[in-house]
Amino acid sequence: MEASQKEKILVVDDEVSICTSIERYLSKEGFSVITTTTPADALRIAHTENIQVAIVDRLLDQETDGITIIAELKRLHPYCQTILISGQPSFESAAKTMRYQTFAYLSKPFKQESLRKIVCDAAEEYQKQKSQGIQQSLFTSLFEATPIPIILCDAQGYLVFVNPSFCQTFGYSAQEIIGKSLHEVIGISGGIFEQTIRKTLSGENLPEFNAIIHKKDGAFCDVAVTLSRCSNQSARFQGVWVILRDITMVKRLREEVLQTEKLSMLGSMTAKIVHQINNPVQVLIGYLELLRESSCVPAHMQKYLTTMHDAAHMIKRLTSEFLNLARPHPRVISTFPPEAPLEKAVDFLFQTGQINQCTILKEYDHNAPMVQGDFQQLNQAFINLLVNAVHAMEEQCEKILSVKTKGNINGTVTIEVQDNGCGIPPDIQDKIFEHFFTTRGNHGGTGLGLPLVKSIVEWHHGSICVESVPGKGATFIINLPCYSDELLAGQAA
Ligand SMILES: Nc1ncnc2c1ncn2[C@@H]1O[C@H](COP(=O)(O)OP(=O)(O)OP(=O)(O)O)[C@@H](O)[C@H]1O
Ligand SMILES: [Mg+2]
Repeated sequence: MEASQKEKILVVDDEVSICTSIERYLSKEGFSVITTTTPADALRIAHTENIQVAIVDRLLDQETDGITIIAELKRLHPYCQTILISGQPSFESAAKTMRYQTFAYLSKPFKQESLRKIVCDAAEEYQKQKSQGIQQSLFTSLFEATPIPIILCDAQGYLVFVNPSFCQTFGYSAQEIIGKSLHEVIGISGGIFEQTIRKTLSGENLPEFNAIIHKKDGAFCDVAVTLSRCSNQSARFQGVWVILRDITMVKRLREEVLQTEKLSMLGSMTAKIVHQINNPVQVLIGYLELLRESSCVPAHMQKYLTTMHDAAHMIKRLTSEFLNLARPHPRVISTFPPEAPLEKAVDFLFQTGQINQCTILKEYDHNAPMVQGDFQQLNQAFINLLVNAVHAMEEQCEKILSVKTKGNINGTVTIEVQDNGCGIPPDIQDKIFEHFFTTRGNHGGTGLGLPLVKSIVEWHHGSICVESVPGKGATFIINLPCYSDELLAGQAA
């Protein structure tokens, strides 16, 4: 390699004449040379200059050994190459310099040409180590920063490296798994994995495959696995990179999309069927009403007519619930106090005799801000919640139904419907908002009431949750944003 002005050479020798001659010669060769005769000055320069190659005399003064200077230079500039020169070369000092990876050990007297050659080689080594060092630190920081779990295992399938994302995702610390077999750590069915590792080592490019692997806490995780051969000739290492992509979420979303597609298909089918059912039901209701009004039906038969009439209305209610879910409704937006659709729902259930045996507690915050939205839809949502509450309290002697509204400091409104019924077991609390989930299948429950409530609330940019202690009742809590232009713009979109 040719000398370049950029390479800074430090010469440390207590003999001024040696410093001067080396400086003259190397400067002529194009190096930038700094010389000093004292260890203290050498250390000062080491702290202030970016030294690439240092030529250091073995014996400097009574107290300081050249190796001390080399050690400090290496600490400050890890890629700096050092050349130790000595008038009294010894095996012991040569061995000592090895500890600091000294580039060369030169005994005095030496030819200037020999020195030039060694300095050129040392400068080249400096550049090489520096670029390797930068590459390595980039590589390390990339592995540490990537959110993708990565493992390096040797040819026998034993772990030699794991990145922080692997440890975080699977719950291990690096120390506890390095050296263990891949099968032992992630539990992918042994045979398949060993086979794929063997194929990867022999240079085969295998496509990404899916697997279920376990975490430290025993939970399972769906992953997409990519294997890639890793070979380092100089380190005589052969291994396999195992890159694991967590696809649990992707799988879940895929299932949800599938479910949504099924529901939308069901929705359009339902809309057609419901239309076909509604016409004959309307005819039925019409004639039943005529019969009830006519005097030709004997009094003792009137109750049968009433039962038939109620049953026909039940079919009508069900079909209209299906339609509510299946087809988009034209929304009518208005502004009203939050208790208005709730109060109307309570009133409706009272008029129809569904909550007459309940003690009804009302706590309305009349200072709560106005709500903007579809009054009819919110009224429907509260009817569904109240009907559920009535069903839940069937077994109670003293039925207590409580309805509340409250304005919050952040401008939202909270509406609560509470009962003292059977409550909801914790293991089904997150299922009750799913379509068709019902525990009242044998009582004609369809499991569509709460999903409809949820979709109405979410359409109003609100949220709904439930709190329940089994045996003590349930509270459905709805949060709605109050009237704002922003909301109106969102709903119009
Ligand atoms: N207040 C409540 N107390 C206890 N359980 C409740 C309450 N509200 C809902 N649930 C539970 O949630 C389930 C789903 O309610 P949802 O209203 O969606 O359907 P459903 O009432 O069973 O049938 P329907 O379609 O006739 O409303 C119910 O079957 C019941 O198990
Ligand atoms: Mg219901």
